[in-house]
Amino acid sequence: MSNIIVAPSILAADFSKLGSEIKSVERAGADWIHVDVMDGHFVPNLTIGAPVVKSLRKNTKLILESHLMIDNPARYIEDFAKAGSDIITIHQEAVKNPKSVIRMIKALGVKVGISIKPKTKASKIYDLLDMVDLVLIMTVEPGFGGQAFMEDMMPKIKKIRKRFNGDIAVDGGINLQTAKKAKKAGANVLVAGTYVFGAKSIKKAIESLR
Ligand code: DX5
Ligand code: ZN
Repeated sequence: MSNIIVAPSILAADFSKLGSEIKSVERAGADWIHVDVMDGHFVPNLTIGAPVVKSLRKNTKLILESHLMIDNPARYIEDFAKAGSDIITIHQEAVKNPKSVIRMIKALGVKVGISIKPKTKASKIYDLLDMVDLVLIMTVEPGFGGQAFMEDMMPKIKKIRKRFNGDIAVDGGINLQTAKKAKKAGANVLVAGTYVFGAKSIKKAIESLR
């Protein structure tokens, strides 16, 4: 068994039949469900909120990770925790005081992830590493699925891996080839939207990433 965690991103799913989409990735061996939350401010796109997480929670036992690409995430953390998120990931760039927001998430009994955009240096989160369960490295500019993987983010993953034993996720442009590069750099969680939901065989796509 590989210890690689595959986390399909529902951004690439068919929202008109989200329940069956989730069931199909669950049957195909997915480990987590990655939920992309966008506010039209922090990123130039709008997606979904806590009510969708609440519905998903009734539909799946998989770990639900809410990736909050929103300004002022503190305002919504309780909603996402109550909706049933197992992990709440915030962006370093979206908060003035990441430590206090991280503490808020933990106080709600939820695991916490910290994410950085491509232009943000790894060193910006070094002092947070002992407080978080997950580091999520963006390998595209957040906002949209289906973009090309930024291979120049691999040194960032290596720098974090030297200092951090927890989960390191890569998000954006993951497919069979790019997953290999991300794993080699030290990532163990692969978030994949287009590659998984756009595949002829979702099962084969998930297996190929491990
Ligand atoms: C982008 C999102 C990603 C996105 C990945 O802002 O954070 O999770 O869904 O999609 P693909 O795998 O298509 O690049
Ligand atoms: Zn994401």
